[in-house]
Amino acid sequence: MAALKTDRRAPLVVTEQVSQMRQIVWQAQTRGSRVGLVPTMGALHAGHLSLIQAAREQCDFVVVSIFVNPTQFGPQEDFAKYPRNLEVDLKLCGEAGADVVFHPSVETIYPQGFATFVEVAGLSDVLEGKFRPGHFRGVTTVVLKLLNIVPADFAYFGQKDYQQQTIIRRMSAELNLPVEIRVCPTIREPDGLALSSRNVYLNADERRSALALSRCLHRARDQITGGRRDVANIRHEMFDELAKTSRVHAEYATLVHPDTLEEQSEFLPRLVGVVAARVGATRLIDNLIIEA
Ligand code: PAJ
Repeated sequence: MAALKTDRRAPLVVTEQVSQMRQIVWQAQTRGSRVGLVPTMGALHAGHLSLIQAAREQCDFVVVSIFVNPTQFGPQEDFAKYPRNLEVDLKLCGEAGADVVFHPSVETIYPQGFATFVEVAGLSDVLEGKFRPGHFRGVTTVVLKLLNIVPADFAYFGQKDYQQQTIIRRMSAELNLPVEIRVCPTIREPDGLALSSRNVYLNADERRSALALSRCLHRARDQITGGRRDVANIRHEMFDELAKTSRVHAEYATLVHPDTLEEQSEFLPRLVGVVAARVGATRLIDNLIIEA
């Protein structure tokens, strides 16, 4: 008699150990399962959950990593106070359809004397790289390590961090990593604010001011789809829009090439608007792909 098919899944497995994590992935792949990895720093919101759901739909076995990666935070940044809530995160992972959560300690990922880093030169030095020196070196190093520990067939990233996914795709191609990088759209609040784990830092006034980021991106898009081609002027208007908002300290607001991330002054049929600002003490980023 054929076994009854059920929708019931095995309970969520949580591990902190590299060897156990690898073994679980190999076992799944030996059974013929396609494995998806969703790397996160926890404090999960609907943006993260959309990545887990995409992995659930496209793969047979889903691993979520939760690791607040110290090497991607600058000395003056929020590593110590970055929101952490493992219990809630595990519940959300289970509900979204994850099979395993990999939750290593800092010492597991960076044992004493750790000295090996990987860096995508050039792309890591512009935009975020200018304001957060060393940030992407930390990101690429941890993502490469995660992909070695969880040798997944597919890895999922959000468009929300446009430069990050560009750099990770480049690293993956240039280092011949045996994984396919998949990028999922940015999830926003109904009023346009991109979901971010850092939004919890905003008070009510700052939350209102933070809308300037998505507003200046959507305005630039409307200008370009409406027929304007004076890209340099539109760039300046984006920055002004951001800079004039109270409680907002604009860092950059510009239009770049979708692959090289170079700032553009001439019209291209596909551009990416990218913005970064501190709203009160909270640093936020956003972006929008603009197709004319
Ligand atoms: P984290 O900020 O936790 O984000 C994890 C993943 O969720 C990233 O790929 C990010 O782009 C995606 N994400 C965040 N907000 C999103 C939103 N509103 N819509 C869609 N996707 C969203 O990015 C990192 O962690 C780290 O740098 C990491 C890649 C885990 C390396 O440490």
